[in-house]
Amino acid sequence: MYLQGTSKINQLGHLEIGGVDTVELAKQYGTPLYVYDVALIRERARSFKNTFESLGVPYQVAYASKAFSSIAMVQLANEEGLSLDVVSGGELYTALKAGFPPEKIHFHGNNKSIDELAMALEANIGCIVIDNFYEIDVLSSLCRQMNKKVAVLLRVTPGVEAHTHDYITTGQEDSKFGFDLHNGQIEKAIELVKNQSHLQLLGIHCHIGSQIFGTEGFVLAAGKIFGKISIWKEKFQFVPKVVNLGGGFGIRYTKEDDPLPMNVYVEKMVEVVKGHSEKLQIPLPEIWIEPGRSLVGDAGTTLYSIGSQKVVPNIRKYVAVDGGMSDNIRPALYQAKYEGALANRMNDECSETVSIAGKCCESGDMLIWDLSLPTVKAGDILAVFCTGAYGYSMANNYNRIARPAVVFVENGEARLVVKRETYEDLVSLDLPLKAEVGQP
Ligand SMILES: Cc1ncc(COP(=O)(O)O)c(C=O)c1O
Repeated sequence: MYLQGTSKINQLGHLEIGGVDTVELAKQYGTPLYVYDVALIRERARSFKNTFESLGVPYQVAYASKAFSSIAMVQLANEEGLSLDVVSGGELYTALKAGFPPEKIHFHGNNKSIDELAMALEANIGCIVIDNFYEIDVLSSLCRQMNKKVAVLLRVTPGVEAHTHDYITTGQEDSKFGFDLHNGQIEKAIELVKNQSHLQLLGIHCHIGSQIFGTEGFVLAAGKIFGKISIWKEKFQFVPKVVNLGGGFGIRYTKEDDPLPMNVYVEKMVEVVKGHSEKLQIPLPEIWIEPGRSLVGDAGTTLYSIGSQKVVPNIRKYVAVDGGMSDNIRPALYQAKYEGALANRMNDECSETVSIAGKCCESGDMLIWDLSLPTVKAGDILAVFCTGAYGYSMANNYNRIARPAVVFVENGEARLVVKRETYEDLVSLDLPLKAEVGQP
């Protein structure tokens, strides 16, 4: 069994994370429960940062908070000296509430609303990543109205296909994100932004996809961007101070995945950006990256309680847990694969192959197909590994299932960082069909 970070099997044969017995966590906080290995998040953050520092280049590592945004998580990112990528008013609000330094926040999104942009300007955030022509218009008039200046990056679609599932590939030409790098759109955008005194054009951004296992895609994308920089330099006297190559670094969900150590991506990016800059005789731009999954993905484990079972003779055994696509929609959305184990009986021999079903009213609500486990009983605790990214952040209330709690564990201590939703929370925004007596 592959255990990540501080996860290990303790003397009771239980799964332990961050020095805390997960069976005890399930008892104390209930299930489903997301458990984050804080030491592993810190290790990942440091590995990105230390690599840049050892290479002596200017950089920013921005945590893509869409992977998992909560006040404690944002504070942890800040403790580790990361910048922060937000993609909505909600993520920005969370960051500001958490006391994250606004000048280290980067705001993304293909359809930021006027209110969201105004909120970002009001907070004096570090930069806005402009995605399209409409946004140039809206942002520049807002800046004039509010008498604000803001640094911007222009997001480009470099036409590089990342080797990953289609649904989460954003770098192809046919993408809803960014300015096309090859059909004249980006040049038009550069001209427009350069003519706006309230917008300070800092550089270029691209994000070619997610769960990428090689460095080739990043090399290709950087090559295409620098190919254009030589033209922009002549035509617009524009040389980016920042080149943001996005996130997307792959992690190990199952034994089929063979990720690179994070330093390898950084070393390659630095080598390529340095090489191109020297060739073009331009100052080395700051290299920014924005990892999400690779910072928090394998640091997260979801604990479930096992309930009902159904045997379809000669076909399969379904084992149901007390969560499902409401706390982890990735298997249903992307056919994402996970591994799991019985947290309360880690040393027991595997004796059967079962498929883990969620409790939602959807046949597609299956978390893991064909998982080897010891003979499973109701009440066992199933740990599903590597659920730290796009798990809680994509959690929903389908079937009016309340969202789980989140616990951080580190050095033998557990800390509740997101409370479990209650039934009362679920109806808290609802209003009755008819006004009650005495109510408007
Ligand atoms: C623009 C951008 N940056 C960064 C990320 C983070 O990607 P990952 O979590 O795969 O590192 C994403 C993910 O969708 C993204 O769209």
